[in-house]
Amino acid sequence: MIYSEKVMDHFANPRNIGEIEGADGVGEVGNAKCGDIMKMYLKIDNGVITDVKFKTFGCGAAIATSSIATEMIKGKPLTEALQLTNKAVVEALDGLPPAKIHCSVLAEQAIKSAISDYYTRQGIDPTPIVGTIEDHCETCCED
Ligand code: FES
Repeated sequence: MIYSEKVMDHFANPRNIGEIEGADGVGEVGNAKCGDIMKMYLKIDNGVITDVKFKTFGCGAAIATSSIATEMIKGKPLTEALQLTNKAVVEALDGLPPAKIHCSVLAEQAIKSAISDYYTRQGIDPTPIVGTIEDHCETCCED
């Protein structure tokens, strides 16, 4: 399997790994197929993501996609972070092998789940804003 230099870089030196004490939103998602789990922590100020950290029990591609996804949403308003798709993340990494595309879905879902948690804590129903978080993985959910 061939990985791009960017994937290798983010896998070897993941950015924003860890957890945030007193995070404003925490999301946890799992991939039913491979059993990998990701946890995402957000610090939110005035609707802007001021800090983000993640932890994952996942494969290298999951680590690389979460790492670059955290860089893509840090300092961004929630509305922009919600637009981030796993496709954009894969593009930012200069691609992923087809068998590993589903790993990038985990990062997108973890962000959405953490934002949902944030809205819930504010007493706001997250569903109309975030939508339902589902596994829309193309490669691993055929059954
Ligand atoms: Fe499970 Fe990559 S194999 S997230």
